[in-house]
Amino acid sequence: MAGSTLSLLFIILIVNQIAAATNPSSEGLSYNFYDKTCPHVEDIVRAVLASVFASDPTSPAALLRLMFHDCQVQGCDGSILIESLPSKPLEMAASKNFGIRKREAINLIKSRIEVECPGQVSCADILVLAAREAVAISGGPSIQVPLGRRDSPFSASSESADASLPSADIGVDDALGLFAKLGMTAEEAVAILGAHTLGITHCLNVMDRLYKSYGERAGEINPKFEAVLKVTCPQWMALTQNTSFVFNDPSTFHFDNLYFKNAMAGQGVLRIDAELPLHPKTTSIVQQFGADQDHFFQAFGSAFVKLSFAGVLTGTQGVIRNVCSVGI
Ligand code: HEM
Ligand SMILES: *[C@@H]1O[C@H](CO)[C@@H](O)[C@H](O)[C@H]1NC(C)=O
Repeated sequence: MAGSTLSLLFIILIVNQIAAATNPSSEGLSYNFYDKTCPHVEDIVRAVLASVFASDPTSPAALLRLMFHDCQVQGCDGSILIESLPSKPLEMAASKNFGIRKREAINLIKSRIEVECPGQVSCADILVLAAREAVAISGGPSIQVPLGRRDSPFSASSESADASLPSADIGVDDALGLFAKLGMTAEEAVAILGAHTLGITHCLNVMDRLYKSYGERAGEINPKFEAVLKVTCPQWMALTQNTSFVFNDPSTFHFDNLYFKNAMAGQGVLRIDAELPLHPKTTSIVQQFGADQDHFFQAFGSAFVKLSFAGVLTGTQGVIRNVCSVGI
């Protein structure tokens, strides 16, 4: 009896070791990283965001996308927060960062944290925690994320940011390839794209899709839905295409699986949203997520954690920036 309990324990230990070893990118991160140096960090993030979210219900979407765009360019290192100078266009000046909002919310959280635990908590970790809160407050899963990321002292150039971020008209194969680089399975890649259950897309990013001839256009589009999109984003509206926008799914403030049902009904906004239900590698995954929200939430949680491991700086790498908007 005691022997079998012991060997079970032994097996569990081995399995844990293997899990840790096959996940090299998470090395240096831990679930109790700030227990001694800033024990209330997660509470502070949550408290500041409660007021940010109350005053602007569109901010959870903005913060979730902000994390993706930080992590995709030189890793989850807080570099997207660094202000460009007119003489030196940085990440934020990249055209694919069009529509990125709410970076000031991270500055606000950081300033509160600096009062309680100066010089301890990275902007990179705050950004990941803010995205995690954004998902939870919108009705999505509560995701535990390991912490201990450090900040890059500098931002990428706008050119390299544009080279690393996906274009608005990326298709399924390229998107699966992009997320496979972060260690995601096809199921996790589809799940992370379920982030488009929140927020908006500016007309700028759908004009090509709407006004290309039918033969060239990828992904199905329901004719009624197409008509609605064209009313919001008319072809001649070049001047306002950067300010007019459409909802990514009808429940734009709710993190739910409607995104998948909506995509199956031919109402995906971007090419990727429209193609996911049609592509042989992703059809059945979209159907499963559409039928079972818990399944989506569970896959989203593991995908989110993998995204949060992208190119992290840990240990003695990088720095802890005092002000998130300023490089060193
Ligand atoms: C193949 C990958 C992806 C592509 C091509 C893509 C593209 C886009 C585009 C073009 C927009 C509209 C931006 C605008 O017009 O303001 C958008 C919005 C958004 N994306 Fe993605 N995205 C991708 C993956 C992701 C991932 C991985 C996440 C999060 C983990 C994400 C979260 C969001 C959110 C929340 C919005 C709404 C933002 C807002 O309301 O301000 N996206 N995406
Ligand atoms: C709209 O935004 C894009 C991308 O940032 C930019 O290149 C373009 O000049 C803007 N157009 C207008 C009319 O402001």
